[in-house]
Amino acid sequence: MIYIARLSVQCSRDIIFVVVFMFIMSLFVTILSVMLWTQCFNAVIQPQKEFDLQRFSGSWYRVGLAYDSPESVLSRKYLQVIKGNITSDMDGNANLTVWGRGPKDCVCLVYHYKKNDLPGQFLYFSQRHQMVKDVTVVESNYTEYSLVVKYKEIEKNFTQVSLYGRSPTLREEILERFRNYSLSLGFSAESIVIPASVDSCSERGC
Ligand SMILES: *[C@@H]1O[C@H](CO)[C@@H](O)[C@H](O)[C@H]1NC(C)=O
Ligand SMILES: *[C@@H]1O[C@H](CO)[C@@H](O)[C@H](O)[C@H]1NC(C)=O
Ligand SMILES: *[C@@H]1O[C@H](CO)[C@@H](O)[C@H](O)[C@H]1NC(C)=O
Ligand SMILES: *[C@@H]1O[C@H](CO)[C@@H](O)[C@H](O)[C@H]1NC(C)=O
Ligand SMILES: *[C@@H]1O[C@H](CO)[C@@H](O)[C@H](O)[C@H]1NC(C)=O
Repeated sequence: MIYIARLSVQCSRDIIFVVVFMFIMSLFVTILSVMLWTQCFNAVIQPQKEFDLQRFSGSWYRVGLAYDSPESVLSRKYLQVIKGNITSDMDGNANLTVWGRGPKDCVCLVYHYKKNDLPGQFLYFSQRHQMVKDVTVVESNYTEYSLVVKYKEIEKNFTQVSLYGRSPTLREEILERFRNYSLSLGFSAESIVIPASVDSCSERGC
């Protein structure tokens, strides 16, 4: 009798130990996988090596856009090439001014890009989505094209790839590079748009 009682005390202790142990392990596994996921994603999105903000400044056309979101399906066919201008300061911050079509008339929008950990990585506040987003210039040869990725960490919902060109049209090879890159990040072929015309507002300026 005493023996059985002792055994059951021993057993429940063992069970508690096992439950606590498994809880800690699952917590550990969860933390580890979140860390790995973040690390992997950040490893994919690396800025251009030795990024030079000065050379990246000036005017750019957004020649292509990859954007997966249910509400963008309808607007995709109305998408046009828009023009923007980047100014920078000595601290590594930048402002992007964009001229585009508003609901009624042409609008001029300014985005304040604050420098982040690495040169080529910025943070800005999106009025549209009311949240801070990351912008990374993943590739640029400064004189012809740039690949720019926007993302919100962990939640990939708002991830977007832009192809910038110093001119409103780019060589087929660059377009293919942009398509390949977007596909490699998991964008569907339908989400990749290269508009045929330039927004008339963009030609007007602010
Ligand atoms: C465009 O950017 C360049 C380089 O930063 C700057 O010199 C120029 O004044 C800007 N133009 C406009 C219209 O903002
Ligand atoms: C960005 O614009 C703000 C005001 O709109 C200005 O104070 C700041 O100096 C500008 N920064 C750059 C890098 O042009
Ligand atoms: C960027 O690409 C253009 C066209 O291929 C080329 O003429 C230019 O030299 C390149 N610039 C750099 C910095 O590699
Ligand atoms: C992200 O996408 C998922 C599934 O489409 C949705 O349920 C969730 O609300 C989205 N998150 C945000 C912040 O929009
Ligand atoms: C794009 O990907 C295809 C298929 O993988 C490859 O054949 C082609 O060379 C790539 N093009 C560029 C410009 O990277």
